[in-house]
Amino acid sequence: MSEPTIESILTENRVFTPSADFAQNARINSLDKYQEIYAKAQADPQAFWAELAETELDWFEKWHTVMDWQPPNVKWFAGGKINITYNCIDRHLKTWRRNKAALIWEGEPGDSRTLTYAQLHREVCQFANALKRLGVKKGDVIGIYMPMIPEAAIAMLACARIGAPHSVVFGGFSAEALRDRLNDGSAKLVITADGGWRKDAIVPLKEQVDKALADNAAPTVENVLVVKRTAQNLKMEPGRDHWWHDLQKEVSADCPAEPMDSEDVLFILYTSGSTGKPKGVVHTTGGYNLYTHMTTKWIFDLQDNDVYWCTADVGWITGHSYIVYGPLSNGATSLMYEGAPRPSNPGCIWDVVEKYGVNIFYTAPTAIRAFIKMGDHLPNSRDLSSLRLLGTVGEPINPEAWIWYHRVIGKQKCPIVDTWWQTETGGIMITPLPGATPTKPGSATLPFPGIIADVVDLEGNSVKDNQGGYLVVTHPWPGMMRTVYGDPDRFRRSYWEHIPPKDGKYVYFAGDGARRDQDGYFWVMGRVDDVINVAGHRLGTMEIESALVSHPAVAEAAVVGKPDEIKGESVTAFVILEGDQAHTDTLADNLRQHVASEIGAIAKPSEIRFTDALPKTRSGKIMRRLLRTLAAGEEITSDTSTLEDRSILDKLREGA
Ligand code: WT7
Repeated sequence: MSEPTIESILTENRVFTPSADFAQNARINSLDKYQEIYAKAQADPQAFWAELAETELDWFEKWHTVMDWQPPNVKWFAGGKINITYNCIDRHLKTWRRNKAALIWEGEPGDSRTLTYAQLHREVCQFANALKRLGVKKGDVIGIYMPMIPEAAIAMLACARIGAPHSVVFGGFSAEALRDRLNDGSAKLVITADGGWRKDAIVPLKEQVDKALADNAAPTVENVLVVKRTAQNLKMEPGRDHWWHDLQKEVSADCPAEPMDSEDVLFILYTSGSTGKPKGVVHTTGGYNLYTHMTTKWIFDLQDNDVYWCTADVGWITGHSYIVYGPLSNGATSLMYEGAPRPSNPGCIWDVVEKYGVNIFYTAPTAIRAFIKMGDHLPNSRDLSSLRLLGTVGEPINPEAWIWYHRVIGKQKCPIVDTWWQTETGGIMITPLPGATPTKPGSATLPFPGIIADVVDLEGNSVKDNQGGYLVVTHPWPGMMRTVYGDPDRFRRSYWEHIPPKDGKYVYFAGDGARRDQDGYFWVMGRVDDVINVAGHRLGTMEIESALVSHPAVAEAAVVGKPDEIKGESVTAFVILEGDQAHTDTLADNLRQHVASEIGAIAKPSEIRFTDALPKTRSGKIMRRLLRTLAAGEEITSDTSTLEDRSILDKLREGA
């Protein structure tokens, strides 16, 4: 580790050591301490996790086996009985935390609510009893399609309390995307709200649910539970649709947490892969509880008086692990905000920081770049002095954005944790520990204790320092996904076969390119598969292409990511039309709209380029890397020898 100096701030190797002030009160307060814990965990990962499971979580019954690894299938704490909501709520009721704020919520129009742990307990129990009243049983999959209101977290916890796996679908997804996910999981019930606020307008969620369920298109769904938020008129279908506030009056506030097997499914969450339909990533109970608990505790270094705010939506894994389960398991105060920067209040984020005295703030690089663009006057005109720790997640952060975050938001005193992880990993994997790890802008730094990561070539051999390769994890960890829902083969193929096992040793393939520097720091470079990362969210090129081709005017489409100043990447679509239709702007607009209604606004191509042909190999595979270069407006210098017809490239360039 090079000695950090002020001068080095101006060079490429800027290093920022945790301030003495921060380290003083931090749980893990020196690099030595981190290295000591890391080495201990590496020497015996099972003993390391078992000890933490014992001391940090409450179990109804202890496990008999710490880890049972039959690649690619793993069980953690088999035989153990646990309920994550007991750890997130009940156990705090016996302490002074009973009346501590568990959730602080701020609505976009400025309304707000605070739920103490005791109040949260009451609401979760009632909600769980309402689900039971509607016939929900242990093992039934429940769809959740909600705005960012406390009931989103309450609904998740209510499901977990009675052992019904939840499948949260981001409220920005379309009715079609919702329907596909409900069907894939055979969901029995959907929890939604009449609507939510989004940039000064109402998003009509219940209406989308009606569309998703119309014509019996999601036949397993028997009931819809509706939370009132925006109070516009709704059509409630008798026998199927139920208001939460009606049921709440009829149910008791007593619902003991169901003892779950450690390996019972806690939730399914869909994420995009490089091919085909989204994957239902399956997470189970005990290992996920432990992993999100420990990562929250050490990475966000929660102190008892902290107000902690993760700006994600509960519809993504970040919301699951770091708004709901991790913070609550630690007895923290977790802030939920419904709003987003909008013309009526571009500085709303900083208003919330000031209003609640937020101490820990966790957001995404795309948001940071948008903050930069909106101007320093917005954060500078608010009191941000409560902040003591900052975090980022979702994509590689460019060093300039890191430095801005450090300077303008952190006032050069807050450590920044750049956390690398995925829906599949359940929790943060590569990250600084804020009181211990010197940080380098753009690097997620070092693996969390218990995580053994490497950068390898396609044969699975470690590459040299500072050489690019594939990011892999070589030992199972408690928070890892267990399978792809209903498709164990796809689980094996997507994560365990790209790098062939050597001597029977399987490694987890993350799908990211990375390099490791001379200090062992990981620099994640981005996806190596056909996945586009738009604003920190993964979109499969295949999914968007299928959506385009489902439009009657489209014969063929190829979609690639194009570097975008704010969003990281934006979607560019190359489209061949049916017949000899005119290449009009109106049609391009229609196609963009079509993708939004098939998948969601997040997947909308920012650019449609009409073409007569696509660059293909002789075997007919679309050469996306060439399209990527064209979309970026760069010269093609890479190898084109496998291209079937070279003249296509010139045509594509002319069309630009
Ligand atoms: C992909 C996972 C995990 C929550 C948010 C996204 C990219 C994520 C970082 C980071 C560089 C990052 C990777 C990863 N990514 N965090 N700190 N530095 N890249 O979850 O939708 O499952 O996407 O996001 O490419 O594979 P996700």
